[in-house]
Amino acid sequence: MKRKNLAMIAFLSVLSFAACIRSAAQAKANGANHILVVYFSATGTTRTLAEYAADILNADIYEIVPEQPYTDEDLAYYTGGRADREQENPAVRPAIAGSVSDMARYDTVVLGYPIWHGQAPRIISTFLESYDFSGKTVLPFCTSHSSGIGSSDDALHDLAPGANWMGGERFAADTSREEIEIWLNENGVVADLANAEADTEDLSAESTAPGVFNFETHTVLLNSGYEMPIMGLGTYSLSDEECYNSVTALLEAGGRLIDTAYMYGNEAAVGRAVRDSDVPREEIFVITKLYPGEQFANPEKAIQDALDKLDIGYIDMMLLHHPGENDVKAYQAMEQAVAEGKIHSIGLSNWYVEELEEFLPQVTITPALVQNEIHPYYQENDVIPYIQDLGIVVQGWYPFGGRGHTAELFGDSVISEIAAAHGVTSAQVILRWNLQKGVVVIPGSGNPDHIWENLDLFGFELSDDEMEQINDLDRGEKHDWY
Ligand SMILES: Cc1cc2nc3c(=O)[nH]c(=O)nc-3n(C[C@H](O)[C@H](O)[C@H](O)COP(=O)(O)O)c2cc1C
Repeated sequence: MKRKNLAMIAFLSVLSFAACIRSAAQAKANGANHILVVYFSATGTTRTLAEYAADILNADIYEIVPEQPYTDEDLAYYTGGRADREQENPAVRPAIAGSVSDMARYDTVVLGYPIWHGQAPRIISTFLESYDFSGKTVLPFCTSHSSGIGSSDDALHDLAPGANWMGGERFAADTSREEIEIWLNENGVVADLANAEADTEDLSAESTAPGVFNFETHTVLLNSGYEMPIMGLGTYSLSDEECYNSVTALLEAGGRLIDTAYMYGNEAAVGRAVRDSDVPREEIFVITKLYPGEQFANPEKAIQDALDKLDIGYIDMMLLHHPGENDVKAYQAMEQAVAEGKIHSIGLSNWYVEELEEFLPQVTITPALVQNEIHPYYQENDVIPYIQDLGIVVQGWYPFGGRGHTAELFGDSVISEIAAAHGVTSAQVILRWNLQKGVVVIPGSGNPDHIWENLDLFGFELSDDEMEQINDLDRGEKHDWY
């Protein structure tokens, strides 16, 4: 992501984040109607139309994801396969992975599904029986090869008897955004203005100066000239499968920043998820790291190994994992790889003031990023400004305090009271506190719901007083040895 692409990044970023579940606080305060677009889509047709609707309505969007994904074989109709069998039996309820975080806040639900043998897929029944729709307006739509909506919408009414059901509409695969807009207008569903306000009331986004966070594009311009998202996903301790699924969930949720390392053993899984995703490579930002020992001793080979394992063309950012023998030599090899275009930006991890003072005079390229342990109980309030004053962006690992400490941090009365006041989670408060301090966040998670939540940081803002209250929690309590 080079600076010249900023306008494009801003545009794509705004589009991506239109799909994120946003904060409820502002809207609840306004007493406004909230709209949720919900859809199930096995092959993407319904998804496209649901995304049009969410975009037009400025609504939140939720995809019904089956716990057991449908394979091509499952979907082959008139073969007696899984989908055929499920449709034959109205009692089947395929399990859904994840859930809508706060259904109570929505007054209107636009519900999209494909027609399967004349009816909605049984997973729509699972969805409808999972929540209380009393008093909510539900507007169904379907896509199909050729069938009309038939009785498929009426057949859903008994599953959510308290809802105000509107008549549904069938759309063909080539339906345009304009046609969806006309349909929504005809049905009197109008844009969710409360969400629009919540999106735009944040910190001003005037700056594209290096190191200054842009809260509109959710990126920061690095001293290397590349643009980096300010929140993403850490993959430490995720197994290959968890890592692949988490990166996939992140990209689907609109996140674009992924942090891995040789030491995590999951670079290949990150690369596979990036390659398998529909998101263009240049929108994604992957960080990896070289580890002391063998890798620092033979850094050219280590860099090539990372390129091979990731297999995503170039590496956006490579860091040295922590100080160690041959670290200058390893950094110089990364400088060479930058010159060769194999790596875009380079930096350091677990380098503090003294280490930086000693290290920087020995290298040519100023690091673009320093990644250190940062959380409310270990704030590094002396280190962060020192690094930022050098024009280096700071990124925090263990934002939730690391394993064994998360419950204490989330339950901290200061943090949970601030969370309650904004109608968000403790995790979101901690991440937002980091962003407002100019610290990039990469919370680790193997849970798609948490991954979505961890990206939803722009619908509320912490006051100076709330920032101060969290700053006062510092105990200088480091939770890992680096
Ligand atoms: C199991 C199954 C049954 C289907 N039954 C019908 C049908 O009865 N009538 C029809 O027109 N299309 C039928 N289709 C096609 C889908 O409704 C159509 O391709 C839909 O747009 C797919 O939406 P999606 O891409 O969001 O999954 C069926 C598809 C599947 C997988």
